[in-house]
Amino acid sequence: MDFIAQLKAQVDIVGVIQEYVRLKKAGATYKGLCPFHTEKTPSFTVNPARQFFYCHGCHVGGDVLRFVELQERLTFFEALKMLAERHGIAMPKREGLSDESTKLRGALFEMHAIAEAEFRSALHSPAGAAARDYLKRRGVGEAACDQFGLGLALKGGSRLVQRFQKEGFTPEEIETSGLGLRREEGGLYDRFRGRLMFPIHSESGKIIAFGGRALEPEDQPKYLNSPETPIYKKGSVLYNLHRAKEGVRKADRSVLVEGYMDVIGVWSSGVAEVVASCGTALTAQQVQSVRRHSANMVLNFDPDSAGAAAAEKSIQMLLDEHMRIRIVALEGGLDPDEFVQKHGPEAYRQRLDGAKNYFHWLADRARSRFDMRSAEGRVAVFQFLLPAIQGLGDKLERGSVVNDVAGYLQVEPGLVLENFRKLAVDRKEKVLAPPAAELIRPLDRILLGALLSSAEAREHWLPEIRQMRCIERSAGRRLYLGLAGLADSGAEITFGALHARLEEADQKILCQNLLREDEGGTLEQAAACMDQLRLEEATLRLTELKGQIKEAERSGNLAEALRLYGELQGGEKGV
Ligand code: CTP
Ligand code: MN
Repeated sequence: MDFIAQLKAQVDIVGVIQEYVRLKKAGATYKGLCPFHTEKTPSFTVNPARQFFYCHGCHVGGDVLRFVELQERLTFFEALKMLAERHGIAMPKREGLSDESTKLRGALFEMHAIAEAEFRSALHSPAGAAARDYLKRRGVGEAACDQFGLGLALKGGSRLVQRFQKEGFTPEEIETSGLGLRREEGGLYDRFRGRLMFPIHSESGKIIAFGGRALEPEDQPKYLNSPETPIYKKGSVLYNLHRAKEGVRKADRSVLVEGYMDVIGVWSSGVAEVVASCGTALTAQQVQSVRRHSANMVLNFDPDSAGAAAAEKSIQMLLDEHMRIRIVALEGGLDPDEFVQKHGPEAYRQRLDGAKNYFHWLADRARSRFDMRSAEGRVAVFQFLLPAIQGLGDKLERGSVVNDVAGYLQVEPGLVLENFRKLAVDRKEKVLAPPAAELIRPLDRILLGALLSSAEAREHWLPEIRQMRCIERSAGRRLYLGLAGLADSGAEITFGALHARLEEADQKILCQNLLREDEGGTLEQAAACMDQLRLEEATLRLTELKGQIKEAERSGNLAEALRLYGELQGGEKGV
């Protein structure tokens, strides 16, 4: 077995995918919400026996390596390496198992790991005394400091760059990493100098970037972050997700805050499901990465007007992504970290648990803008809220929210309904029904399933099937032929190997028919299907014979007609 096959045999595809997607058992398969497109009802399927995943909605599918590639945005080789490392499987040391971009990315990952170690040790060195003091003042204990890998970039000009050069990284690699900058007059220097460093991790826990906080108020900007690099795409990373995903699943909610310090403060108060968007407007991709673990989110942005505006802006996108949103507005102008420091973890957790539904929060914001004493004012507030309510995908939920908000604002229900109906007519329902699957006959499905999973079935039936003419009329014909070709080539016969041999249209047929939850017929059932197929074949042959006899008679070839007639009689006995 080659290394790739060996790896795939050793890792459990369900286990790997479950790290990213909540899966529920459904017959012979597992189902969950597709991580590769937005959906409300699960059409993402994992079939452990076939070692394959497939989304019936967006048709993305593949083996465990393909999943890791797509999910972690890795190259094939990186996915291979990551899975091998995680499962303690030694990689063969072959140069062939790498390519240019993989090498560069590998170098970048390494440099980030080195940088983190350097920053950490600097923080604990004598030169880190002031920074340690600063952390203490801000209530960040030793444990949190270690857990979050906090460090210090020293003031000097090019310590880290020099270390990289000593390790043999090229100037191009150093510049591409974003950790070194090029001087106009040539040479490289450190991007981060005199800053408290927060490592930023990918969902699988690799360091891919840093945020650096100024230690003196006069140092600007307050936060300096890594630029985008081949391993860091700002809009697709949530700070702390790799640590928080367990917590998000357990609590069935995520808590979204704005900053690094907020995450650390909130985490330290015992809320393990906290993540941050880190200074960028929240993106759909970030939301999708957390929604895989829970569709509930509590937004706790800073209480300033920028934070509120950010929350308001995020709501529509969150609704589009089918999130259920609640919002915490902390009093006293405190951000989450400050609140925890001032009022303690218990008080903070209470505020989270008592978070308001987003439309109540929006209503409160709108109240201050309109005159709530007049009926017109109240209706205006209601109209202000309508777009967000419209964003609710579920009709029943929409209706109940309308009633709820009308009550909250004390608006005439009649007025509300009228407004709402008008808008409801305009609303274009975004229904993305999955295209109907091209299902092949149950007979072919059962037989193909048996041929795929049983060597015995292949040995008995494949030679016979490939002689059959009736197969040519089956929608699954190229699947049969593919299996026969695979058997001829002597390769190992797996679902993935067959998939790889097929054209796209047939890959789809394969996935739609042979990864089903009601799949898995017995060998006896397959044998019965085989009998049925033989019958079909015989009938087909007879029809053909009759045609040939007629043809021979018409052309006056009586000897041939008689011979064929004899064949026909023999054949009819067989049927
Ligand atoms: N941010 C940034 N660049 C800035 C300011 C802020 O990238 N110049 C991002 C950082 O990710 C920061 C977040 O926005 O964590 C929130 O900013 P802010 O509230 O100002 O910082 P805090 O995290 O609250 O940090 P601190 O409490 O130390 O001020
Ligand atoms: Mn803060």
